[in-house]
Amino acid sequence: MQQIGIGLLGFGNVGSGVVRTLLKNADLIAVRTGFQLLLKKIAVRDCQRERPVQVDPSLLTSDAESVISDSGVDVVVELIGGTDVARVLTLKSLAMGKPVVTANKALLAECGDEIFGEAERRDVDLYFEACVAGGIPIVQSLREGLIANHIHSIFGILNGTCNYILTRMQREGLPLDVVLKEAQASGYAEAEPGLDIDGWDAAHKAVILASISYGFHAPMGDVLVQGIREVVQTDIRAALELGFVIKLLAAIQHVEEGVAIRVQPALVPQDAMLASVNGVFNAVLVDGDVVGETLYYGRGAGADPTASAVVSDLVNVSRNLVAGSQRRVPALAKHHQYRGMRSTSDLLTRYYLRFTLADRPGVLAKVTNVLGRNCISIASMNQKDPLPGEHAEVIIVTHASQEHNYDTAISEIDQLDGVVDPTVRYRIEDFHRIESGRVALNGLLVGGVGD
Ligand SMILES: NC(=O)c1ccc[n+]([C@@H]2O[C@H](COP(=O)([O-])OP(=O)(O)OC[C@H]3O[C@@H](n4cnc5c(N)ncnc54)[C@H](OP(=O)(O)O)[C@@H]3O)[C@@H](O)[C@H]2O)c1
Repeated sequence: MQQIGIGLLGFGNVGSGVVRTLLKNADLIAVRTGFQLLLKKIAVRDCQRERPVQVDPSLLTSDAESVISDSGVDVVVELIGGTDVARVLTLKSLAMGKPVVTANKALLAECGDEIFGEAERRDVDLYFEACVAGGIPIVQSLREGLIANHIHSIFGILNGTCNYILTRMQREGLPLDVVLKEAQASGYAEAEPGLDIDGWDAAHKAVILASISYGFHAPMGDVLVQGIREVVQTDIRAALELGFVIKLLAAIQHVEEGVAIRVQPALVPQDAMLASVNGVFNAVLVDGDVVGETLYYGRGAGADPTASAVVSDLVNVSRNLVAGSQRRVPALAKHHQYRGMRSTSDLLTRYYLRFTLADRPGVLAKVTNVLGRNCISIASMNQKDPLPGEHAEVIIVTHASQEHNYDTAISEIDQLDGVVDPTVRYRIEDFHRIESGRVALNGLLVGGVGD
């Protein structure tokens, strides 16, 4: 049986999952593909370290370049992470004509132009299913399964750590810092959680999804990114009373003028499908012009789900090698069908606004006056009776208005006499399709239009 030599760069969390999968399901993969995936070399930092999976020690090396240049290695799997060593090694592998499988979303989001460009120049495969939503095969779905579609929008819950934290906050009424500490203790959050809870990890994934959907490398600098650090119980409870849950939502929307990408905590209607995605799970909702809506759900991280995606890529790359059809599926099929990025500032959005106001006559009137002058009309307003001596909390849900109207209004409101704290604002996601400036309702609610 033909053998494909695998060189692994990194034998940590994901690397261990990949080795475990290659050992556990070797026979199944062989009978399904007609070839064997054979581990030839594994690069690590520390060859003496105890590993959760046992391998022949002679496979290990701390010289990562020797893995790439090994003549027995046909495919390189980059599982080191970061954008320094991983970038150099990935570029070297591609330059040597060796296909690369990577799980490194930061690398592709930050250095995508260079990496995708090198893969194209060298006519070499670059596969990256594990970069987005762990075990969910969303990259293959977009690059192949949905290739006949113009993608109107992609909405995703793409960060399991944030979803786990928000789910527990909602269910148990706990503050973010308490849930975060427990998540760190149980391995659901990193010791350095910034990449996740500040929204950057989800933004990296959103950039990758947008790039493969629209045929250009979406620059990170054009993505609106806001994490979950500021989410408090007051807003989680108020959102529930209004019929919403708060999710860290990645929204990629195509309008005629281009593609808008934002990652923000957003209020999602409780009867929307994405509202029921809880804990560490991820989900991606894709709206294509031919297929309509499709939904993908599963574990977004962890050694085994991620390994499932990496090994799937390994099989795809190996099949291409065996058939002599490298770049059958280009990493990023660049084209000019779409206009590039567009600002989010004139997108129509409904908002949840929470004002903390001095409890005296006339303050609320000044606030609503500013909203009115900025073309923001009010759908509902709720003020809880303040206790004596306390400030009043007023929650306003708006009708749709352009994003920049909110920016202007809120910066004016926050300067008003009687406004005690900065205004809290969360986008309300109604999952509207945007077409030529019009907003058309999709059937995205369970039991809704077109269901
Ligand atoms: N963890 C997940 O659930 C998940 C999910 C999707 C994608 N990813 C992505 O997968 C990649 C790997 O993540 P991970 O969680 O597996 O990371 P990890 O546990 O930190 O593993 C990193 C591995 O790289 C090795 N390494 C670091 N620097 C090296 C160098 N200069 N030369 C050779 N080896 C080196 C380390 O060696 P030592 O073991 O000797 O220190 C370790 O084995 C990242 O890009 C991450 O974003 C992870």
